[in-house]
Amino acid sequence: MDTNKRPETMERITTPELANAFIDEQVKALREQIGDKKVLLALSGGVDSSVVAALLIKAVGQQLVCVHVNHGLLRKGEPEQVIDVFRNQMNANLVYVDAVDRFLDKLAGVAEPEKKRKIIGAEFIRVFEEEARKLDGIEFLAQGTIYPDILESDGVKAHHNVGGLPEDLQFELVEPVKLLFKDEVRVVGKALGLPDGMVFRQPFPGPGLGVRCLGAITRDRLECVRESDAILREEFAKNGLEGKVWQYFTAIPDIKSVGVKDGKRYEGYPVIIRAVNTKDAMTATVEDVPFALLQHITNRITAEVDGVNRVLYDLTPKPCGTIEWE
Ligand code: XMP
Repeated sequence: MDTNKRPETMERITTPELANAFIDEQVKALREQIGDKKVLLALSGGVDSSVVAALLIKAVGQQLVCVHVNHGLLRKGEPEQVIDVFRNQMNANLVYVDAVDRFLDKLAGVAEPEKKRKIIGAEFIRVFEEEARKLDGIEFLAQGTIYPDILESDGVKAHHNVGGLPEDLQFELVEPVKLLFKDEVRVVGKALGLPDGMVFRQPFPGPGLGVRCLGAITRDRLECVRESDAILREEFAKNGLEGKVWQYFTAIPDIKSVGVKDGKRYEGYPVIIRAVNTKDAMTATVEDVPFALLQHITNRITAEVDGVNRVLYDLTPKPCGTIEWE
């Protein structure tokens, strides 16, 4: 039997009851597979890895070691949320790695988007490998592979497409949600008690804010994009757009323009708002955000984010624009 093929008879998980049945079945299977051995998981805080972590905590508790790598390209508040939910609330065995300087130093001066993605992916594997080597007795590697990953690629998550772990660190894979679609993963996550902010969050690219700080990443522009994104998310949540708009974020180009403050001309960065709806990310339409809200967000960003003096709204559908800017 091909274990990477979803059986035609498998019911779509749409209710808490079906999710609980799935959870019970997986907990049993995970305990059988893992026994008394240890499992390692790269926990980004995204829906898929978070659901896998919660399932494994339920199945094998402290035998799970979660590694959360902060590469400096996460959204505002994300590392804190991972620590709060998994370490404080779920009592998980969590290793937090502050690799911010390491990633930003490697990325300094690199402007080409695919090169940036490769560096982020490769460095991620390296940091993860170093952490894995510090731990004794790990025999399994858990991954948040979901069914579209299997259908669309070779079943490998985006950030793992740069070679993977070295030969001597080949663990047996544990992939409890690999036959589920995204909506089913969310239903399971909810049934496992994960917070809504984690379960229903919008998609976020593996390279994170790295592909939204356009061109060569600098710390000042990275902070501008992180802070403006946080304001955008806060305002979308306050105004009923969270959970309604498929993906929304800010991006910052590598240019400055002239502005005026206190009667003086000065140079600052522009910030671009993107808010799109789509079914499968292959095509996308632009959200018709109320003009007054866009003006309010513009006022907040220019007042609160140091260094930003203009805000633009991207009106381009996909095609011909992609969702991300690079
Ligand atoms: P584009 O920009 O190609 O994006 O229209 C389609 C969807 O894919 C996400 N995206 C990525 N996700 N690694 C990821 O894990 C990446 O390098 C990457 N680039 C784009 C994007 O956020 C959107 O949801």
